Amino acid sequence: MGRRQELEKRQTLLSRFGRLIATESRLESLLTIIAEEVRNILDADRCSVFLVDAYKGELWTKIALGMEEKILRMPLGQGIAGFVARTGSAVNIREAYRDTRFTQDLDRITGYQTRTVLAVPLKGRDGQVLGVFEVLNKSKGSFTDEDEGLLRVLGTMAASFIENASLYDDLRRSHLETIYRMALVAEFRDQKDTGKHLRRMSRLSGILASAMGMSYQESEDIRYASPLHDIGKVAIPDVILRKPEKLSVEEYEEMKRHTIYGSQMLINAESRLLRLAALIAIAHHESYDGTGYPYGLKGEAIPIEARIVSVADVFDALISKRVYKGAWTLEDALAHIKSLSGKQFDGAVVERLEQCFDDVVAALEEEDRRSAVEEAVLLFQPTGQSVNRPAQA
Ligand code: C2E
Ligand code: SIN
Ligand code: SIN
Ligand code: FE
Repeated sequence: MGRRQELEKRQTLLSRFGRLIATESRLESLLTIIAEEVRNILDADRCSVFLVDAYKGELWTKIALGMEEKILRMPLGQGIAGFVARTGSAVNIREAYRDTRFTQDLDRITGYQTRTVLAVPLKGRDGQVLGVFEVLNKSKGSFTDEDEGLLRVLGTMAASFIENASLYDDLRRSHLETIYRMALVAEFRDQKDTGKHLRRMSRLSGILASAMGMSYQESEDIRYASPLHDIGKVAIPDVILRKPEKLSVEEYEEMKRHTIYGSQMLINAESRLLRLAALIAIAHHESYDGTGYPYGLKGEAIPIEARIVSVADVFDALISKRVYKGAWTLEDALAHIKSLSGKQFDGAVVERLEQCFDDVVAALEEEDRRSAVEEAVLLFQPTGQSVNRPAQA
């Protein structure tokens, strides 16, 4: 390719880059787009974007391991990326394995062999280092000064978008975390392993939603909103909520009001997730055959989100120990739910539960392990530090 054509090609790629990064507001997808485009523009085999986590003193990056994507973290000073982040200067290396700053840690994990590396710092609006742009293994020869200039330009273009997306990401995460913590408050009084039930029923709701053919976004929304289904229980007196025996008829009538209380707490929220949570709170005890509460809605008149959460909630309630009952086995719980297919539950949802039962069991076990780890961490955590890192990837 002639010099002129090459310049024209770069021009096209650059404007495409500018357009693409302006359309994505989610940090993780933004990083994926950036890595892919930069790799192309610089004719490199790989591009990694490392971001600084100032709070933890770490750099993190997303890597692809086969079909899976993982978040990898390393101490700020380590590796070539760490060097660039610390010093704020660019680095161009012809033979990575002979450079003492290179640690091979990532290569060992990914099974990749790095030869040439070009790394430049990503700087934020105030000039602070946000992260590091790294391209690896140029297709021919090693990276040139011109490549370095180009990577700096791309870095400058990307930086403000990355900064905005990080802010949005933080906001979104604290929103999700607050929702989850609200749900914990509601369950704290009547259940010992609060976190466990919420995580499991939320995970199960998400699985059932996507099995029902709902979009990724819709399934995620259900996953995040479902833990609030019983938020109205905070308004139920202890003598009822914590009664170790069967409730009297009057007590049960009061108990049923947790659906109404919950929706009163959530109704007309501005947040899309909280509005969905309100819908789930009011309708998660409706029965498909119209015998449920509080309104006795029937069939399709019950929002699909609530029909899904209802199955997830009861399944998990059955396999959990409660003040008033012991834990059932997974098989008994499934059999019980199947026996009420088309009665209490939407048959279509029950069918999906049966179809993905292996996945469900695996997911529930994973959530149990996660809760156990979290409890252990909580016990040993010095005060004032955040425990709950956002569930990434
Ligand atoms: P929960 O404990 O979270 O249970 C949610 C739903 O799971 C129940 O809705 C019910 O459909 C199902 N479920 C839970 N345990 C069993 C069980 O042992 N057998 C059967 N067949 N289904 C079960 P439900 O019945 O409308 O109850 C709503 C909430 O009222 C319960 O939430 C719980 O907090 C409370 N509750 C219900 N029955 C009793 C009781 O006898 N004693 C006490 N202390 N609370 C109860
Ligand atoms: C890097 O900074 O390029 C990766 C870390 C290393 O293995 O040196
Ligand atoms: C999200 O989409 O994950 C949170 C947005 C919201 O409902 O505020
Ligand atoms: Fe409930």
